[in-house]
Amino acid sequence: MKTLFFAFMLLLSLPAASARRLRRDSQLIRGSVPRRRLTGLVSYNFKSRRRTPRSDDDPTAMTPIGGNADGLPTCLLCVCLTGSVYCEEVSPDMTSVPALPKESAYLYARFNKIKKINKRDFADTVTLKRIDLTGNLIAEIEEDAFSKLTLLEELSLAENRLTKLPVLPTKLSSFNANRNLLKTKGVKANVFKKLTKLVNLYLADNMLEAVPTIPESVRILHLQNNNITDVTIDTFCKASDNYYLRPSLSEVRLDGNPVVLSKYPDSFTCMKVLPVGRYR
Ligand SMILES: *[C@@H]1O[C@H](CO)[C@@H](O)[C@H](O)[C@H]1NC(C)=O
Repeated sequence: MKTLFFAFMLLLSLPAASARRLRRDSQLIRGSVPRRRLTGLVSYNFKSRRRTPRSDDDPTAMTPIGGNADGLPTCLLCVCLTGSVYCEEVSPDMTSVPALPKESAYLYARFNKIKKINKRDFADTVTLKRIDLTGNLIAEIEEDAFSKLTLLEELSLAENRLTKLPVLPTKLSSFNANRNLLKTKGVKANVFKKLTKLVNLYLADNMLEAVPTIPESVRILHLQNNNITDVTIDTFCKASDNYYLRPSLSEVRLDGNPVVLSKYPDSFTCMKVLPVGRYR
């Protein structure tokens, strides 16, 4: 009886499956599917293939997956390709970091509903080189959640709800926290100081009241649309050293802040280019 029912379900689902494949193929040919859409489609197919037969013998299989994978292995919910895990716009909603396969190097978990990063989330995947959590609802990160990731080079927390930053791993070359709710109070003065490989630092569209300490390696610094009211000689240069130069820094954005840069003519003498911002 069960077998018969299953065969019947299979028959029913076949035309739907092939229609879906057709649609996917035609979209592929047009070559205009944004990658985000495509990943969504692929993971959807993964899921439906897995869940249809299960619904037959496991009555709980059709209940919505609460929180996260909820027992469903990450690589059925997301797409895993040699060291990369793609979990973008996962449905049903993904509200926490999924368990990652060992040896994962790249995690793309953009546009989900992750609210908090826990210390244990990345504890077993010290192989990570890039984490992209853009466009989630992250309001809290446990202080040491990223600090053990000694290979991590790129971290994006853009478009979240952070008011403060945790300890950052020292090998980072790119850090993006654009579009959060960061205040100077929540960004420890030295949070970037030890990041001697940091090249890109994006902190635009926050509520920072001061420029944090910027390591010498930084080339691009985005601080536009914050609430920065002043700078000093020591912000970028050194009051104690007239000969100090900062050749790396080649793009500084301070536009959209209350600070009037022409009031601080001595503050940029060590730089190759003046910051973008208000001069009158
Ligand atoms: C910007 O800073 C000033 C104090 O310098 C404060 O009164 C104001 O509320 C701040 N604005 C925002 C949007 O945080």
